[in-house]
Amino acid sequence: MEFDTVIHDGTVVTANEICKADVGIRDGRIVALAEQISGGANRIDAGSRLVVPGGIEAHAHIAQESSAGIMGADDYFSGSVSAAFGGNSTFIPFAAQHRGQSIDDVLATYDARAARSVLDYSYHLIVTDPTPEVLSDQLPRAFRRGITSFKVFMTYDLMNIGDGGMLDIMTVAKRHGAMTMVHAENNDMVKWMNARLAAAGLTAPKYHAVSRPELAEEEAINRAISLSKLIDAPLFIVHVSTAGGAAIVQREKLSGARIYAETCPQYLALTRDDLDKPGMEGAKFVCSPPLRDIQTQEALWHHVSMGTFETVSSDHAPYRYDETGKFMNGPDIPYPKIANGMPGIAARLPYLFSEGVLKGRITLQQFVALSATNAARTFGVTRKGSIAPGLDADIAIWNPELSRRMTLADQHDNMDYTPFEGIEMIGVPEIVMNRGNIIVKNGALRAKEGQGHFVHRSPVDMSARSGHLAKELDPELNFGAEIRP
Ligand code: URP
Ligand code: ZN
Ligand code: ZN
Ligand code: ZN
Repeated sequence: MEFDTVIHDGTVVTANEICKADVGIRDGRIVALAEQISGGANRIDAGSRLVVPGGIEAHAHIAQESSAGIMGADDYFSGSVSAAFGGNSTFIPFAAQHRGQSIDDVLATYDARAARSVLDYSYHLIVTDPTPEVLSDQLPRAFRRGITSFKVFMTYDLMNIGDGGMLDIMTVAKRHGAMTMVHAENNDMVKWMNARLAAAGLTAPKYHAVSRPELAEEEAINRAISLSKLIDAPLFIVHVSTAGGAAIVQREKLSGARIYAETCPQYLALTRDDLDKPGMEGAKFVCSPPLRDIQTQEALWHHVSMGTFETVSSDHAPYRYDETGKFMNGPDIPYPKIANGMPGIAARLPYLFSEGVLKGRITLQQFVALSATNAARTFGVTRKGSIAPGLDADIAIWNPELSRRMTLADQHDNMDYTPFEGIEMIGVPEIVMNRGNIIVKNGALRAKEGQGHFVHRSPVDMSARSGHLAKELDPELNFGAEIRP
C-alpha cells in the first residue's frame, strides 16, 4: 500500500490504550496502524514522541460579537492558528443568534467568517430568540446541515431565554438528536447582587466574583438538569466552575441521567485573587462564571480525574485589554461593564498535559479522552477524535519533555495578554496535522488560510435514554423519527 505520510516509531495514545506503532496516512485518512510500516512519501520520525489525536476544542468564541456588540479579537484565521499551536486539529466555536435574526442568516454570516480557518470546524448554534419559526423550521434546517448542538444561556439579559425557552429548545434538540448546551448562572441573583454592590459603591473588578456567587451556578445547574429530566433530553453544562456544580453533575451521571459537562483551565489554574490586581488589571481576569478559590481548584481537579467532565475546554473569549475589548465601555468602568472572557485556546492542552498528566492527576488516556475523543463522541464528530484506520488523520505529535513558560510573545492569537503568563508548562505539540496536512511544525505555521473544511456532524448518540418522560408527551418527543432510517 502506498502512503502519503508514515509517522514512524512514536508512542500512539488513544482514550483506551498506549502502544508503540507506526501510523500510515493516505488521502487525509489514517489507513494503517502497525508495528512497522515501510514507505511513505513523507516519513516523520516520532521516536520518543507521543502520537495523539489532534485536540478538538469544543468551546471557543471566534469572530463572535458579544450580546453587547463587542467583536472578539480573533477571527477564524488567528483563532484557528492559535488553536493549532496549542495542539488542536479541529474546533467548534459558536455561531450566535442575536434577537430578531434568523438562524439561516446567522449561519450564512459565520460561513463567510469561517472560510478563513486553517483547521476543520463546525459551530454550536447559540439560540437567543426561540420564535415559532426558529423552533419549527430554522433549527431543524440547521440540524440537517450538520449542526447538531444548540447552546442556551440562563444569564445575561440579552441572551437569557427563560426556563420555558429552554424546554422548547431542548424539545426540538431531542427530537432531532441534537445536544443542548447551557451556560448556567441564575440571572436574577446576579442582577440583584449587582444592584446591591453598585449601591454600596463596590465596583472594582474584584467584585465581579462577589456578584456571581457559587450558589448562582449551583442553582442554575440544578434547575437546568431538572428541566432536561422533565423531557428526558440530554444536556451539556459548559464551564462548570464550582465544586457544588460538579458534584451535582457527578450525582446525576451516576443516577443514569444523560448529563454531560466541561470545565476549563482557568478554573483549575487561576483564582479570584487575580481580579484584585492593581488598578484595572483585574479586568483581564473577568470571565463568567468567575474565578473561584484554591479549594475549588482541588475539587475540580478531583472531578477531572474521576470522569465527571467529558471535556476540558478553553472558553477562549478574546477581549483585548484596551478600548476595543475589555474597555469598550470606557477606561475606568464598574465591573459589570467590563467585557467578559479571557483567551486560552493555545494553553488548554499544554496546561492539561503538564498539570494533569505529568503531575499524576490524569492518565495519558484520560488526556486524550478529555482533549479529543469525548468531544468527538459528545458532539457527533464521527470521523475524528481517535487514532484508528478510517478516521481523519487529525494528529498531534507531542514532545513530552520540552518545557517552556507561557508568555504573550509566543502566542499566535490577536490578544495583548495571556492570563497564563509565566506559568511553566512541560510538553509541546511539535507537529499538528489536520486531515494529514501539517498545520504546525516546530513552531512554524505550514498551513494556508482557508484550508479548513466545515465538518458535517452526526446526531448525538441517544441510545441510553433513561425514560423519565411523561407518556402523554412521548409522540411529540419521539426523537429522531424523521431522520432515523
Ligand atoms: O466570560 C465568558 N465566559 N465569556 C464568554 C461568553 C460565555 O459566557 O461563554
Ligand atoms: Zn516504523
Ligand atoms: Zn458561558
Ligand atoms: Zn463561552
